[in-house]
Amino acid sequence: MKINSYTEREIPAITHSIFKKDNPVILIKGGNDSIDFFEKISVQACESFHLPATRKDKMVSSKDKHTTEVFRNNLILSGHTEGAYLPKPTPDLCFFVCITAPKQNGGETTLVNSTKMLEEMPCHLRQRFQEEGIIYEYLWQKERWQAEFNVQTIEELEIVLQKSKSTTYEIQNQSVKIQQRNDAVSKALDGSIGFSNGILAHLPAQNHPDYIGKPFYTNTSNNIYYGSGDNIDNHTINTLITLHDKLSYKHRWKTGDMLIFDNRKYLHGRTMTEKPCSRVLFSRFGYIKHQET
Ligand SMILES: [Fe+2]
Repeated sequence: MKINSYTEREIPAITHSIFKKDNPVILIKGGNDSIDFFEKISVQACESFHLPATRKDKMVSSKDKHTTEVFRNNLILSGHTEGAYLPKPTPDLCFFVCITAPKQNGGETTLVNSTKMLEEMPCHLRQRFQEEGIIYEYLWQKERWQAEFNVQTIEELEIVLQKSKSTTYEIQNQSVKIQQRNDAVSKALDGSIGFSNGILAHLPAQNHPDYIGKPFYTNTSNNIYYGSGDNIDNHTINTLITLHDKLSYKHRWKTGDMLIFDNRKYLHGRTMTEKPCSRVLFSRFGYIKHQET
């Protein structure tokens, strides 16, 4: 894993072109305990931001409301591209800043190079994901779809969903079951193609031998299929988890450190801490400014 490391003083302008060169993860060390610098650097690179609907009540910025606190739940969250399951483009850049570093072992943010993951997976899987894409299925209660789509009524929700050709849905009382067909493979800012998606953070269950009895994040109201509609079997999921873990770089946080990376080039996730302890991270997810080439 190549990480370009700077202090706050040394940091050059964070622009799209940095991620075109050799596609590093950027670490800005220490001193970022106020969120001002964190927000300034993201606004320098991005023209708009994605707000994860599940974190609407976890906003920590009074300025532009795009900084949210990462969930504190002590669990294992496998690598994913932020927002990959939604009927809209995925954000380009992820920004994380550490407000309180975990004092226990663990609690790292994991990063997996999606290009390497695509290259190293069995050929038949790579071909299938590239050709078919994937379908994310999720069942959302009223509060979730209201927050996610910024609407109030079922009628307004249906208007939004009908606009998306890659979305099918079924209204169930006040809930909605959505099937969203998206690419499983996409292009990063450096032009490389990677296994960029949310499969491993969208599983209804998992039975990987390394995680038996451990709090690996799954959600029984989610499901995931190949784009053809076929199930992705357990063996395939376990193959992906094993490969993900083999390629995983674990970033040990220090308070004040900040990480910036291409959302489609690096899947991000987290490990759990050995014992419960405070671990506070803030995040922002941005769409880059269009630049002249
Ligand atoms: Fe995430």
